[in-house]
Amino acid sequence: PLVGVTELLRKAEAGGYAVGAFNCNNMEIVQAITAAAEAENAPVIMQASQGAIKYAGIDYITTMARLAAEQTSVPVALHLDHGTSFEQVVQCVRSGFTSVMIDGSKLSLAENIKLTKRVLDVARAVGVSVEAELGKIGGTEDDITVSERDAFFTDPEEAKIFVSETGVDSLAIAIGTAHGQYKGTPKLDLERLEKIKSLVGIPIVLHGSSGVPDDAIRAAIGLGVRKVNIDTNIREAFTEAARKVLEANPREIDPRKMLGPAREAAINIIREKIRVFGSDNKA
Ligand code: G3H
Ligand code: 13P
Ligand code: ZN
Ligand code: NA
Repeated sequence: PLVGVTELLRKAEAGGYAVGAFNCNNMEIVQAITAAAEAENAPVIMQASQGAIKYAGIDYITTMARLAAEQTSVPVALHLDHGTSFEQVVQCVRSGFTSVMIDGSKLSLAENIKLTKRVLDVARAVGVSVEAELGKIGGTEDDITVSERDAFFTDPEEAKIFVSETGVDSLAIAIGTAHGQYKGTPKLDLERLEKIKSLVGIPIVLHGSSGVPDDAIRAAIGLGVRKVNIDTNIREAFTEAARKVLEANPREIDPRKMLGPAREAAINIIREKIRVFGSDNKA
């Protein structure tokens, strides 16, 4: 069934594991997320990025996600990923999202607090949980130097102020991960994570988690990460499987012959991630 995120993260906090938050790019990936969750008996978060909303439209995503969730025995939440404005959050809540992220990380601390509080006011009224972001999570185009780390990474003291002033439900932080594929191996600032967790107490969200080695992910979960975002690894598995079909049979014209195996590949990678996050058999 379709559920909220607050309860999922509360249980993850108590159980010391993380819930996988998987980006849905299309129908096959929506189906793959719930199929994988069902197979692993795991709670799961399905999330829609700005790109997904542009591609499919908010109502298509909500309708597909709701149907997939209704057909699934394990808890499935629908989350807005990197929400850009108060208006977009309201649109998604109206459409049926059960959780939202408001990404004010480009704003000043004061402006980020103000925007996040405004979103919390409406979200609280309808029982939707809110994730905010503090610090700048890199894109792979950014080459971060050591001196830039302190400027980009989440400041623990700021995080403490941010969480106590907003009362936000979960916090996305910058500790060395980046969206997309990595050039080398990312190195996470786990000390910073530990400090932040000790000061804020709430569930921490790790973005850009595709390409982060499993043991680093497990270490981050050990220090308080309760939601792990994965998009790129699903895209890679999905597209590689589709490419294989087309390479083996360049004259194939049936989209289902290409997207069926792609969906299977997505299910497999999502199941692997669920086990790394320790959320298998936690439904
Ligand atoms: O937010 C990060 C997603 O992984 C990528 O988003 O679907 O807008 O390209 P996109
Ligand atoms: P990746 O694409 O690196 O997995 O990042 C996903 C993400 O953080 C979505 O918000
Ligand atoms: Zn992200
Ligand atoms: Na990544």
